Amino acid sequence: MPDSITLPWASDFHCHLRQGAMLEAVAPMVEQGGVRTVLAMPNLAPPLTTTQMALDYGARLQALAPRVRFILTLYLSPALTPAEVERAARAGITAVKMYPSGVTTNSEWGVGDLQAYHPTFAAMQAADMVLCLHGECPSDAARNVCILNAEERFLDTLRDLHRAFPRLRIVLEHATTRAAVECVKALGDTVACTITAHHLFITVDDWAGQPHHFCKPVAKFPADRAALREVVASGHPRFFLGSDSAPHPRAAKQGERPAAGVFTTPILIPLVASLFDALGCLDRLEAFVSTNGRRFYRLPPADPADGSITLTRAAAAKLQIPAAYAAGPDTVVPFMAGSELAWSIAS
Ligand code: NCD
Ligand code: DOR
Ligand code: ZN
Ligand code: ZN
Repeated sequence: MPDSITLPWASDFHCHLRQGAMLEAVAPMVEQGGVRTVLAMPNLAPPLTTTQMALDYGARLQALAPRVRFILTLYLSPALTPAEVERAARAGITAVKMYPSGVTTNSEWGVGDLQAYHPTFAAMQAADMVLCLHGECPSDAARNVCILNAEERFLDTLRDLHRAFPRLRIVLEHATTRAAVECVKALGDTVACTITAHHLFITVDDWAGQPHHFCKPVAKFPADRAALREVVASGHPRFFLGSDSAPHPRAAKQGERPAAGVFTTPILIPLVASLFDALGCLDRLEAFVSTNGRRFYRLPPADPADGSITLTRAAAAKLQIPAAYAAGPDTVVPFMAGSELAWSIAS
């Protein structure tokens, strides 16, 4: 096992950067985590529903982190007509995120009946835009749906969408179950899957009673985590990193109804490297954090001329994860706050 690895700057294909003071604090942390390509999620308040809103947000991101390449997304809503899809594609917006209504942060503007969006999906397929799915069914007692089976119960919808739009590139975001991994593997080359860093670490026992580990979808059973670990260790080309890093002020995480989200942006690649090392699959790290996602999103392979990061496992260079980060008037507690990672980015 090497004690140092040099990789191109990594890519994070699912990140919540927020707005306002939170954004100003978080945007500069992207590079700190080893990343220079970020797919920015659109679930702001209000959500990014139009081309102009996304472009304005992109300009703001770019001003705050000039060396990072931001990939922009739109929030699927009735505003996303086929004409708006064409406008967005021409403006360089890459993807559209679908949130079923009521499943997570700021999803109250989300989607009920997907059938109504088939003309939008047809336009996206024609324009070669990517559809990113928050793949959970809303909880429904009458159908025995709750947060533990919400992802598995969504998979029929994924299969149906792929059957109806076989050339539409679809990403099942933040998979947490063996069922989702098997489903994506079985579908065609136009369907891919992101996996977060935190879901490679935690299971139900870790978030029940621990609000800083509570996120949507919730982490599942040990056998599900094993499936996520197996698929990343196998280097499967359609599975790649989307951190779903989702900062919330400490008070929102520690209140009576904790907000969903785990914050990993400033420690992201050391976190993934430390886990891959423990799993004995550091040889797959570059595929997971760079090659696979860039291929699916049709970005050029990361160019060493654009710089690289060197990760080290020096005993004297362990990464001390802070107890919290300042974010304007708030503080944000990161994943594994106060603990130590074996791998760090050498300065
Ligand atoms: C942020 C949050 O919830 O943490 N808001 C949001 O996502 N709409 C805080 C913020 O930056 O406004
Ligand atoms: O845990 C989550 N937090 N999951 C999501 O899908 C959204 C995110 C957020 O925006 O806070
Ligand atoms: Zn999501
Ligand atoms: Zn997300």
